[in-house]
Amino acid sequence: MGNENMKGIILHGGHGTRLRPLTHTGPKQLIPIANKPMSQYVLEDLRDSGISEISIIVGDVLPEKVKSHYGTGEEFGVRISYIHQDKPGGIAHAISLAEEFVGTDPFIVYLGDNLLKGKITQFVEEFKRSDYDAMTLLCEVENPRQFGVAQFGESGKLIKLIEKPEKPPSNYALTGIYFLRPSIFSTISSLKPSWRDELEITEALQGLLDTGRKVGYRFVTGWWKDTGTVDDILEANRLVLDDLKKTSKGVAEARSSIQGRVSTGSGSIVKRGALIRGPSIIGENSEIYSGVYIGPYTSIGNNVKVRKGEIENSIIMDDCQVEVEARITDSLIGPSTVLTSNLGSPKGYKLIVGECSKIIL
Ligand code: DAU
Repeated sequence: MGNENMKGIILHGGHGTRLRPLTHTGPKQLIPIANKPMSQYVLEDLRDSGISEISIIVGDVLPEKVKSHYGTGEEFGVRISYIHQDKPGGIAHAISLAEEFVGTDPFIVYLGDNLLKGKITQFVEEFKRSDYDAMTLLCEVENPRQFGVAQFGESGKLIKLIEKPEKPPSNYALTGIYFLRPSIFSTISSLKPSWRDELEITEALQGLLDTGRKVGYRFVTGWWKDTGTVDDILEANRLVLDDLKKTSKGVAEARSSIQGRVSTGSGSIVKRGALIRGPSIIGENSEIYSGVYIGPYTSIGNNVKVRKGEIENSIIMDDCQVEVEARITDSLIGPSTVLTSNLGSPKGYKLIVGECSKIIL
């Protein structure tokens, strides 16, 4: 199909209900994984595959935070425009809003909460050269009921795509990365809302198959992670940190101990007697005090002060303060949170906690 100019669409809407209260103050796709918003991995993957024109579909949860992070895209080496989706009407609904942006070009829709180790470059080239109307990326999973699932016919032909099936016909999930051509728009316009009151991309792709259009598939290489829950986010954090390179822009005082692959940002200080075990990342201008232990698989954001305590397998976002006589593990701590131990009397936990928080003591 020649040398067409591919465009990119990042889905940045939805309500992220399973991640409240973090999603009361921003869209879930801005939650940092190893100190970088998850949708930035998506944007960089699109950019690194040669795509320079990107539209971000923002929802009604503080879209201004998305715009202030990505701006015009110049800083990231791409051109970004924004489209508003006033309610989460489904992935296919979000795509339909981008018809004008797409024009006659092929395009990629990449869900802003999907992380892929293997990158998409090779698939972009294959799709450009193909005569497919759509191409999906599949990943073998243990829990296919949570995803769109592919069914294959003879000689591996894709015959059906089913959203969250009770009886999955295979273990191959549809990842949230879709290679499309403008023919998808007429299929979307004939969709009816599903049981979850959404226009489903899975049904739109099925519509292409049903009308004899060509829908191809490829398998992802390396891991793929859809980050719907806290556990998914902590797992994504571990997967990304597994590839972390050791960098030391911060200061490690004499007799501090930094073990394994640890990255420290500029202006950060690891004080004497502190122990950091990699893979872990410390952002800029953060301070890790004497006696503190930061365990493997932990991401500490910018301007964080950890005066006392132990932290393992957790994400502590920007501007937090931690001074506890305890070990914090498997935790996701939103920005500007203060965690301290109650050393006064009366003894007991003193909690000032927002809506939909979860505390396991
Ligand atoms: O992650 C892969 C899965 O994504 C696929 O296997 C499924 O076939 C596909 O339907 C989708 O399933 P989810 O149930 O995980 O989709 P979710 O509602 O979580 O939305 C995915 C992303 O798209 C999320 O970042 C929010 C964004 N979104 C979602 C909707 C419904 C929007 O921007 N607008 C929307 O209207």
